Amino acid sequence: MKITLSVIKADIGGWVGHCGMHPDLIAEGEASLAKAKKSGLLIDYHVTRCGDDLQFIMTHKQGTDDKTVHELAWNTFTSCTSVAKKLKLHGAGQDLLADAFSGNVKGQGPGVAEMELEEREAEAVIVYMADKTASGAWNLPLYSIFCDPFNTIGLVIAANMHKGFKFEVHDVKESKRIFFNCPEEMYDMLILIGAPSRYSVKAVYSRQTGEIASSSSTQKLSLIAGRYVGKDDPVCIVRAQGIFPAVGEVLEPFARPHIVEGWMRGSHHGPLMPVAVRESTPTRFDGPPRVIAAGFQLADGKLVGPVDMFDDPAFNNARQQALDMADMLRRHGPFEPHRLPLAEMEYTTMPQVKRKLQRRFEKI
Ligand code: F6R
Ligand code: MG
Ligand code: MG
Repeated sequence: MKITLSVIKADIGGWVGHCGMHPDLIAEGEASLAKAKKSGLLIDYHVTRCGDDLQFIMTHKQGTDDKTVHELAWNTFTSCTSVAKKLKLHGAGQDLLADAFSGNVKGQGPGVAEMELEEREAEAVIVYMADKTASGAWNLPLYSIFCDPFNTIGLVIAANMHKGFKFEVHDVKESKRIFFNCPEEMYDMLILIGAPSRYSVKAVYSRQTGEIASSSSTQKLSLIAGRYVGKDDPVCIVRAQGIFPAVGEVLEPFARPHIVEGWMRGSHHGPLMPVAVRESTPTRFDGPPRVIAAGFQLADGKLVGPVDMFDDPAFNNARQQALDMADMLRRHGPFEPHRLPLAEMEYTTMPQVKRKLQRRFEKI
């Protein structure tokens, strides 16, 4: 049975500041998606949040980039924005960059990760959702999951993974894409995806069957808006078990927190801390950046779940490491490498500040 899994997210108002999600927004989102389920458009849905980002996880039979499903998400974000405005939440409607829906929410502000899949006898999926970071944050974990035998032992000892995986990499600034067959083209791929501010892993495919293994949101808010309007706070879907890495192999990269861009004012480097949904409220210096993982088994499109995958003491050390990394970086205050390098600061609010100084520069 062919099912489409769509994860569409937006920051449409924070509680308090840019930290958390008001329950009324979740309730509004649930009410709207419940109607769409009743009407038969959606098979199932789950509404959740990571930090101040509202996430719609939806299953249907419409395929990816479907106008009706995208319009549903857009209209639901719009009605949630009205609730946010009433409560005077911070940044109400922030990520809805267009005045009206124009056929596809991509390019209009919300982040989108979708995949159409033939549901297997048992279909395990993990949906990753992050706050206070940029698209590209999934590059390192996706590389670990699908290319690194030190992370995924299945690449070595499971016969059905030996052929490896194919990666679709997007140049988000030039709007170009390139495919890499891994493991043999890993080194070529790393030269690009090691620079996640420019190159994002969009999707991964099994080379055993050609089936899709992973799909990420790669939208960059600053490139869409042409100015700084908050971070992308991306999402990513990963299928697990069988010809794909096991759930534990899919989660394992997050036991070694890596440094991502984002955090305060979208202008800093900080560790990506794996947390339970209830702990995804980035308060310290508006961070540090968080990632949550919602696990589901699909049953004829029904979302059997979620299991809150990082709500596990096995990730306590990772959280502690992330906090120690956060302390170390915070010590640098406004200095690099805590603050982003100049080229990246061009996409935040820095140009406005710099403009004022332009005339005062003298030749030496
Ligand atoms: C980072 C983020 C926050 C805000 C900061 C200032 O992605 O959302 O760190 O940048 O709180 O917010 P404003 O400009 O809305 O007062
Ligand atoms: Mg926000
Ligand atoms: Mg956010």
